Amino acid sequence: MEFLIPSRTARPADDPIFALNAEAQARKKAGETVINATVGALLDDDGKLAVIETVVEALRAVAPEVGAAYAPIAGSPAFLEAVIADLFGSRPEAQQAVAVATPGGSGALRHAITNFLEPQQTLLTTSTYWGPYKTLADESDRNLATFRMLDERGRLDVSDLDKKLQGILDAQGRALVFLNTPCHNPTGYSFDDDDWAGAVEVIDRATARGPVSVLVDVAYAKYAQTSLDGAFDRLKKLSGRAMVLVAWSASKSFTQYGLRVGALVAVCPDAEERRRVQSALVYSCRGTWSNCNAAGMAAISRVLTDPELRERVDRERAALKALLDKRVACWNELAAPAGVKYPRYDGGFFTTVFCAEPQKAAARLREEGIFVVPAQGGLRVALCSVAERDVPRLVDGIRRATAS
Ligand SMILES: Cc1ncc(COP(=O)(O)O)c(C=O)c1O
Repeated sequence: MEFLIPSRTARPADDPIFALNAEAQARKKAGETVINATVGALLDDDGKLAVIETVVEALRAVAPEVGAAYAPIAGSPAFLEAVIADLFGSRPEAQQAVAVATPGGSGALRHAITNFLEPQQTLLTTSTYWGPYKTLADESDRNLATFRMLDERGRLDVSDLDKKLQGILDAQGRALVFLNTPCHNPTGYSFDDDDWAGAVEVIDRATARGPVSVLVDVAYAKYAQTSLDGAFDRLKKLSGRAMVLVAWSASKSFTQYGLRVGALVAVCPDAEERRRVQSALVYSCRGTWSNCNAAGMAAISRVLTDPELRERVDRERAALKALLDKRVACWNELAAPAGVKYPRYDGGFFTTVFCAEPQKAAARLREEGIFVVPAQGGLRVALCSVAERDVPRLVDGIRRATAS
């Protein structure tokens, strides 16, 4: 007898990235000099998780009765205000935004899918995307479709976005688009102003056909070379026409992956719509995880709003970003001249090397103790977990494994 419902009987439980990481660690323990470029977290040059100490201090300082108590279902007001201010500062969007707390950015993505698409409808994102987008869609009985991410010039393929977005609107009358920028996982690509201008123009035109929501997944924003202001300047044009959503996460920006603190932010200039969106999102919170980590929200709101703590966190994060930037610079210096093919990459945790047979190339690299993740059309290379001193060996191995 089968107790699982039919759609759940063949769910894959194993995560290939975790399996690769486990093998890399076991071989390292056995004495091999391994390069493990599979980990999706920032590690220091000794391979230890980089942690912003001031955040840990703030967590330790949370009063027991605050951490032990249920947080409000929407999230604590101080936290939500702090997140909105972190994104928008003194911009007018700050007055038009509503937010709910979510367990990491993942929770924000989940709420966006279930509140802005009907069951069985299709989410649109880039052709290379973070795998859990599909899992989140599946889990909520929605589908995922893609537009070609980069054109022949290696720039955002705005015309394919246009085509696919129109197709989705024709088919289902509404659309939700996920754009992960800056520092896209897994390619490392960050939209520049032209990309944003093109995407916004296409989305703006599409709004004539039906409700379009666009979610910007800013999980890696604090590691980018420029602030989010340029993106918001462009997105402003959509105000009142499209629903602009932001998935905010403390995981990478505060090096607290396990804390599960995040938020979904929606910009709604119309007060009545703002109220409806807020109600729908709060209802979703109650209907999923009920409420989020109270201690986590208290600590993160404190480090966002206490001027002294914020300054210390910013300083510590800047040092981590500098560590990562040096790895990226070293990669760019060696990989581009060696003929390794990858998108424009100027910061962030990952890049993706394009190659014809990713599984084969990854297996060949594994034989020589270099671990990368084979993905759609390429190898995901997590520079966030590779010391700068190992980048030359990493590039050389990849060059040989991907040479056609
Ligand atoms: C592209 C992207 N979005 C969102 C997230 C959300 O992470 P979390 O749920 O830990 O905040 C991640 C984490 O790896 C990510 O890579």
